[in-house]
Amino acid sequence: MCGIIGYIGKEDAVPIIVDGLKKLEYRGYDSAGIAVLGYNGFDVVKQKGRLAILEERLASRLLENKPLSGRLGIGHTRWATHGEPSDINSHPHVGSKNKIAVVHNGIIENYKQLKERLEHSEHGVSFASQTDSEVIAQLAEHYYSGDIIDAVIKVSNAVEGSYALGIMCIDEPDTLVAVKKDNPLIIGVSDHGNFIASDVPAVLKHTNKVYYLNDKEIAVLKEGKVQFFNMDKEPLKKKIETITWSMDSAEKGGYPHFMLKEIMEQPRVLRDTIQSVFNDGKNKNVLDSVNISGYNKIVITACGSAFNAGVTAKYVFEKLCRISVDVELASEFRYKDAIIDNKTLVILVSQSGETADTIAAMREAKSKRAATLSIVNVVGSTIAKETDYCLFTAAGPEIAVATTKAFSAQLVLLYILAVRFALKTGKLTHKEEEAQLAEIASLPDKVKMLFEQIDAIQKYASTCVGYKSIFFIGRNIDYAIALEGSLKLKEISYIHSEAYAGGELKHGTISLVEENTLVVALSNCERLYGKIMSNAQQVISRGAKVLFIGNCPRDDTESEKLYYINLPKAAELFSPSLSVIVLQLFSYYVAANKGLDIDKPRNLAKSVTVE
Ligand code: AGP
Ligand code: GLU
Repeated sequence: MCGIIGYIGKEDAVPIIVDGLKKLEYRGYDSAGIAVLGYNGFDVVKQKGRLAILEERLASRLLENKPLSGRLGIGHTRWATHGEPSDINSHPHVGSKNKIAVVHNGIIENYKQLKERLEHSEHGVSFASQTDSEVIAQLAEHYYSGDIIDAVIKVSNAVEGSYALGIMCIDEPDTLVAVKKDNPLIIGVSDHGNFIASDVPAVLKHTNKVYYLNDKEIAVLKEGKVQFFNMDKEPLKKKIETITWSMDSAEKGGYPHFMLKEIMEQPRVLRDTIQSVFNDGKNKNVLDSVNISGYNKIVITACGSAFNAGVTAKYVFEKLCRISVDVELASEFRYKDAIIDNKTLVILVSQSGETADTIAAMREAKSKRAATLSIVNVVGSTIAKETDYCLFTAAGPEIAVATTKAFSAQLVLLYILAVRFALKTGKLTHKEEEAQLAEIASLPDKVKMLFEQIDAIQKYASTCVGYKSIFFIGRNIDYAIALEGSLKLKEISYIHSEAYAGGELKHGTISLVEENTLVVALSNCERLYGKIMSNAQQVISRGAKVLFIGNCPRDDTESEKLYYINLPKAAELFSPSLSVIVLQLFSYYVAANKGLDIDKPRNLAKSVTVE
């Protein structure tokens, strides 16, 4: 939801923090700020707007010969939840005694009560901002009596909600403190200093050695050491992890946007993810250990694109395993008092592994004794750590807010899971399983073949920038992937879009179809080709243009209103992996033609770590 970074060490913290914030900007970017502990106390530069504006302000400080400088500092890119994006609501927040500075990711749900208590206390604390986060700084100052760890423990016990915090105290200039609950925070260690950050890319330039902080663990960073404590201030021993992917995987690599780079990485990502469940791949043991026959119900729950992967997987599981699969929005599932028990397998899909709603859904499932299996891209993330089983997508860091390669990797893992479950429950013979796996293994090369059509897709997309609304239709599994096509387009092009089951359009929405409406029709189900083609004809006869994407044989209904993009032939159940590539590229080029900020779309964040 936002990006946090902090540094304490031998070097000037400012360039390290600014560079780290650049790597975290995809997490939230309506304002940015940095605070260092200089010779005369805290020096804070923060404002509304993108990180580039912060950099301009730092440069002007340099020109005024007042450079921001210090060897201890914290930084923040914000995705506002409480208090509009403004200079005063930006982070870091400093208490009214100017003693403690804080950056916060998350939501403090009882901030109003705490704020009132402080305002009406004998100290009569005056607040500067409208945010929930400021209450942390004010409360820490209220509790502080010479030991910042004690103050942080008291704050953690007083606040309700979610947080990842970086905290500095003017009286303890050799210490940087971090604590988290429900939001991600890592601790990086190097020979020139130590770091806190919301995500690995922010520190990877300096170190690949990190600790993943667990909920309500406190990290105390000094220049040359890092200690961990629990809420009883007892020392904790934690395992250091080594990050295996490289720095350049978190760079654009010459592409204009991370999103295009990540789209183009998909053949390799699919190959690596498929490979990870065979031979000595780290997912193999997990897949072998899940005893599907022990469950009589499967629920898939997720948010956004991950939910769309779940809807797609429903068709695959039900076709291959002949078991009913419910797919639930995590934000609904968490509050619905679901009818699940220890005979239920709940599958949670999440790229970040930190989505607040999906974490809550996971904990709801566990509270009802259901087994939990997650499909996650970020190692060490909350969902990866707390589920009974976890399969990792091998997508590497996904920087663009709009997911592409991680989504595709989720799909292939879900396919493989369904095939394996079908084998284990006797619905597939070994020979049939091998045939299905061979179909899946052919997907990376077919995706690569699709890239030969990029120019055609780009050209067609350039004619679509003027639309106010674009409809996506499909039948059966094509409807599921139409959901993802619609979300992709909305997210990055800001064009309104809806996905409809092909047969449903005529039950109302077709009234919206008029001259020059655009309808994107998906057709990979051969037995339903005629049906979806007649849907296309229905909208064409009402003035619409149709982009027809599929691998079905073309009939003679050529029309200048119908534009075909042919997909390589693939098994119907796995065809979404090909359709989605075209849908991603189509959305990308529509947005690129509109000159929008594709990697950081307005109002969005890469990981929604708040409700
Ligand atoms: C997808 O392009 C969006 N960024 C968003 O819908 C995302 O899929 C959703 O927020 C879930 O995120 P997660 O996979 O990290 O849980
Ligand atoms: N709730 C805090 C605010 O609105 C933090 C939001 C975030 O995580 O970016 O400032």
